[in-house]
Amino acid sequence: MANRTYRIALIAGDGVGQEVVPAAQQVLAALPLTWEFVPLEAGWAVFERTGTALPQRTAAAVRGCAGAIFGATQSPSQTVEGYASPILTLRRQLDLYANLRPVVSMPVPGSRPEIDLLIVRENTECLYVRQERLEDNGNTAVAQRVITRAASERIARKAFELAQARGQTRSGRPTPRVTVVHKANVLGVTDGLFRAACLAVAQQFPGVVVEEQIVDSMIYRLIREPERYDVVVAPNLYGDILSDAAAALVGGLGLAPSANAGDNFTLVEPVHGSAPDIAGKGVANPCAAVLAAAQLLERLGENQQAQRVRRAVVQTLADGCWSADLGGNATTAEMTQAIVSRLA
Ligand code: NAI
Ligand code: MG
Repeated sequence: MANRTYRIALIAGDGVGQEVVPAAQQVLAALPLTWEFVPLEAGWAVFERTGTALPQRTAAAVRGCAGAIFGATQSPSQTVEGYASPILTLRRQLDLYANLRPVVSMPVPGSRPEIDLLIVRENTECLYVRQERLEDNGNTAVAQRVITRAASERIARKAFELAQARGQTRSGRPTPRVTVVHKANVLGVTDGLFRAACLAVAQQFPGVVVEEQIVDSMIYRLIREPERYDVVVAPNLYGDILSDAAAALVGGLGLAPSANAGDNFTLVEPVHGSAPDIAGKGVANPCAAVLAAAQLLERLGENQQAQRVRRAVVQTLADGCWSADLGGNATTAEMTQAIVSRLA
């Protein structure tokens, strides 16, 4: 069978991004696929050197790739003239409208059992349009929240399609289910539109059960009985908060991957940031980045290889090869090697 070459952008960024993206690359390179890796710069270090956090060359070269692995970038905590977060810019430029966060139980002490859910977060609007202003001589702060029917329907369609696909690949699973998260009881206009758009799309997927849940009780139930959820779809802000809470149920940031998906491009990244407290020491947990690479494989249609990578990570953790965040003392290099050697 002809083997195609996948050209993948590697945007390691700052801090531990420089350590975990090469780990993910090493795992991909060990698979029987042909890769062309394109290392590209972005982040705070580049900004300090060149005055831009996302060089033109990076933004342009990414478009010629089949997908991208992004590490993390360090952001200043105050507004810095000329600095814009590269990941936010890339999400907008590439129209990566869906943020996909799989949350799956892992064989580590900090993980609850039997969790296998996927959070599908709208990635382009809601309060993240960042239309904030001061009124009343600076005594009132107002933020605008934008919800459109088009973006809501688009994310709902993605959620239902993914639920359907998950249903097909899992034996013995109950009927696929999508939980629509909102707060339409209070925000009847904005969340009301999101809810209505999702429920309308649900009509086109008779094989998928739809349910709705108010966001506050959603968090409560997610913590009480996470194993009951399958696919969860939410507007941007609720999805952001829900997905970090969910990551805490299955072993924490060192194990949490995410994908930013559009119709034609996917950029995957570990959920964690640049971790300045441990950067440069070679002790970062590479699993989040490696599992993110597995999400990329899935998006490329390489489902079998994605499963192999996930199984190798699970086996590594089950064998007690743990980095410091999990309570062990394995280095990034040791864990990566352990994962590669378990790619059965
Ligand atoms: P963080 O995720 O970088 O770190 C939080 C804690 O988790 C730290 O104790 C860190 O050591 C630990 N941690 C993170 N990744 C780990 C890994 N792979 N292995 C082991 N431990 C790990 O979040 P924090 O400290 O709030 O932010 C640091 C910087 O990262 C900031 O400049 C922030 O703006 C940026 N950031 C960037 C993101 C991105 O590029 N998408 C996402 C989140 C934060
Ligand atoms: Mg977040």
